[in-house]
Amino acid sequence: MPSIKATYSSATNSCEELTPDSCGIIIFGASGDLVYRKLIPALFNLYTRNLMPITFYILGFARTEMTDEEFKERIRNSLISVHKISDTQMVESFLSQCRYTSGEYNDIEAYRRLQKKAAGCDCDFTKKENKLFYLALPPQLHPTVVSRLSQSGLTMEGENEDPWARVVFEKPFGHDLKSALELDKHLTSMLNPSQIFRIDHYLGKETVQSILMLRFANIMFEPLWNQRYIDNIQITVAESVGVEHRGGYYEKAGCLRDMFQNHMLQMLSLVTMEPPTRFKAHCVQSERVKLLHAIRPWSERTLKDNIVRAQYVEGKVNNEDVHGYHGEPNIAPDSTTETFVGMKLYIDNWRWQDVPIYMRSGKRLSMRESEIAVTFKRVPHSLFGLESQHEMPSNILVMKIQPNEGVDLTIHTKQPGPKACMASLSLSFKYSEVFDTVPQDAYERLLLDCMLGDRTLFLSREGVEAAWKIVDPVLNFWRDHPEQAPLHTYSAGSWGPKASDELLLRNGHQWR
Ligand code: NDP
Ligand code: BG6
Repeated sequence: MPSIKATYSSATNSCEELTPDSCGIIIFGASGDLVYRKLIPALFNLYTRNLMPITFYILGFARTEMTDEEFKERIRNSLISVHKISDTQMVESFLSQCRYTSGEYNDIEAYRRLQKKAAGCDCDFTKKENKLFYLALPPQLHPTVVSRLSQSGLTMEGENEDPWARVVFEKPFGHDLKSALELDKHLTSMLNPSQIFRIDHYLGKETVQSILMLRFANIMFEPLWNQRYIDNIQITVAESVGVEHRGGYYEKAGCLRDMFQNHMLQMLSLVTMEPPTRFKAHCVQSERVKLLHAIRPWSERTLKDNIVRAQYVEGKVNNEDVHGYHGEPNIAPDSTTETFVGMKLYIDNWRWQDVPIYMRSGKRLSMRESEIAVTFKRVPHSLFGLESQHEMPSNILVMKIQPNEGVDLTIHTKQPGPKACMASLSLSFKYSEVFDTVPQDAYERLLLDCMLGDRTLFLSREGVEAAWKIVDPVLNFWRDHPEQAPLHTYSAGSWGPKASDELLLRNGHQWR
């Protein structure tokens, strides 16, 4: 389809980033995957963009014994060899602010050593005692670490949060609603709610954040953004990778917990929520939660008919033969864990009554592609020679989340020539082309916001709870009635099982 390129004029509001107050960043699980894959590169990028506090330090903590130098070597290796950073001078300057100490997560003595090391770093670097604790750890360790942090006084804040102490929790938040509530009870008995930052890294993605701006900074969309003009909404998060080295975790989680309880439902809430009165954390969070509460509760029929679960078998991805799920490391040979979920749901409110919302996510699909597609209803009457208005193509607005971040709007126009021939074209823009920059990584935004104390892009307790209330009945149904919710299979490299296409066909729709 031909497309028109967009141009960027200028920012119309102040875009200046704030620089956080001096602080120490203490990372638990500092030997793990997430740290070198996401956190360290994000902190380094903030550093190169002068967005780190003027004085800061990074203090790693884990059971693995390492000297400061060995920790720095891991970081150096990750930044230079894996993330291809060429400015070695900048890397060395960043490394000079990194330290490490080891210990067991349950050993109070280890926390005393940590406290001493942090106090030394406060003295050497920040001259302030603000601290950001990042729990890059398997979730079963979160309660223990929070208890020990609290017992050792490390999370104690000063008057008016000066100095402040914040704790960042990685997903998953519990395994189901019950465990999420228990976890929350534990955390709030040790920390003030204002100290708790629950990350859903999708909320930090540039294109996910831009959903709100697209909706609420353009008068032309909002009047049409409802059941009178929108036919259906589709949210796809497709991954071409398999479970990689995370089989141990994934076996117990599965796609519904891993992607829907958090990322998918958060994206859905941003696309469909009511406008917040102000762009402030509590206003945005409460609209997201309100929307989740409006999702139509499952019935036995919809649990059976409107959700498809499936697992990949061997196939070809990017022209390479790949194993099925059962052939991946740390996966039980008879595992029934789902690696794909497709679902149809409805939102019971004035805006969205009876608009089908389709969502799908899976591993080892044809390609990595995440997008939200809003399909508008057809015009009510066809003027242009088509037999009926049902043949008129729809307008579709696609918000491309990754990898080619941008927006596409399909419209229809007259093809030049003597006859009234209609052509469809796409008004599209790619962030990378228009703004001549690649969108910053979600972790950069979120780490910066934690240091600034801005909670807008973090999950509230109510938000986590509301999402579990949608996911829990599905998990229970699968557990109690497996015969009514069969586990389909799909070839790696495909777009999922046939049953997922049939889910849409029943309403006369198809995946984009
Ligand atoms: P890892 O499995 O790499 O664990 C991190 C560290 O925790 C390990 O290096 C290890 O350090 C310690 N650890 C692991 N298992 C145990 C155990 N059973 N008992 C005690 N310590 C243990 O996790 P990731 O880095 O992959 O993930 C960290 C968190 O981030 C998790 O909550 C995960 O769900 C979340 N997450 C991860 C993503 C990723 O891409 N990796 C993406 C999104 C979220 P040591 O032995 O040195 O103490
Ligand atoms: C994580 C999931 O939260 O998100 C992973 O645990 C998934 O299974 C990842 O691969 C996807 O994130 P992104 O940013 O690569 O789309």
